[in-house]
Amino acid sequence: MTRGLKFQFNEGLLSKIRHSTGEIDQIDLIDDQGWTSTVHKISAEHGLFILKSSFKEKYREWLKTEAGLLEKLKNQNEIPVPGYINYIEENVQNHLLMTYEKGVTLTKALRDAGSHDEKRQLMKSFGELLKRLHETQSAHFNWNINWLEGELQRAERYLEAGECDGDRALLEKLKANPLPETTQTVIHGDCTTDNVMVADGKVSLFIDVAGMTVGDPRYDVALALRKVMADSELTEAFYEGYGRFRLNSKEFNYFENGLYEFF
Ligand SMILES: Nc1ncnc2c1ncn2[C@@H]1O[C@H](COP(=O)(O)OP(=O)(O)OP(=O)(O)O)[C@@H](O)[C@H]1O
Ligand SMILES: [Mg+2]
Repeated sequence: MTRGLKFQFNEGLLSKIRHSTGEIDQIDLIDDQGWTSTVHKISAEHGLFILKSSFKEKYREWLKTEAGLLEKLKNQNEIPVPGYINYIEENVQNHLLMTYEKGVTLTKALRDAGSHDEKRQLMKSFGELLKRLHETQSAHFNWNINWLEGELQRAERYLEAGECDGDRALLEKLKANPLPETTQTVIHGDCTTDNVMVADGKVSLFIDVAGMTVGDPRYDVALALRKVMADSELTEAFYEGYGRFRLNSKEFNYFENGLYEFF
């Protein structure tokens, strides 16, 4: 897939953006593009902003959910997320305008770290941030849902539409072999090292929050550890910060090599 291309700013869109940002000085495609959207940094009269735009139907739905969530979380400081500014729907693309937050993704910070000790500190900090999220009692969420049931239904939809890596046999296996239940908490829902940002040496912000809801905290831990599992020191550092529970291999596989294949 070509990342970060396919984008046109028309005058109608620019004027909607200007409504929030004031006069625009500069628009740059950022280096660190994700897979599901195109991300621009906007320097304008009222400050720095991020414009996240999606084209494909599935990703437009996710962007809308993300926008709704950021809007809900706008006036709280319990869960660190970018500030919501505006959400714009056009014929072929949707856009989320939010505050630009300084820092780099944890993926990049780990890649650029000068020493293994620095990497350990980063993973510990990630664990601490996730612990805070999993222990919040935020009233901004609906606590009365069965998250896994909803996710299995969504997986079924994506499978039927041919929009995921997972196959029928895997989905049936997940349905037939649920994990023992655990207490639901607020979760990020796509808690990879790509979706948290590091500033001043600390993992301090959640981004890409379309999946943030009340759900199974083991899903977040599995995705948080997926890229460092082979390094026992980094895994330990994460758990030192997280301190709530550890995943066994069955739990890790249920999510990392199971449910995650459908999203
Ligand atoms: N509010 C923000 N402030 C600064 N940079 C941001 C902000 N939001 C996103 N970014 C940058 O844009 C990149 C892509 O953002 P995001 O993860 O939300 O997009 P995505 O396309 O949904 O990614 P994914 O492929 O993980 O779904 C991030 O890696 C980060 O570098
Ligand atoms: Mg992302």
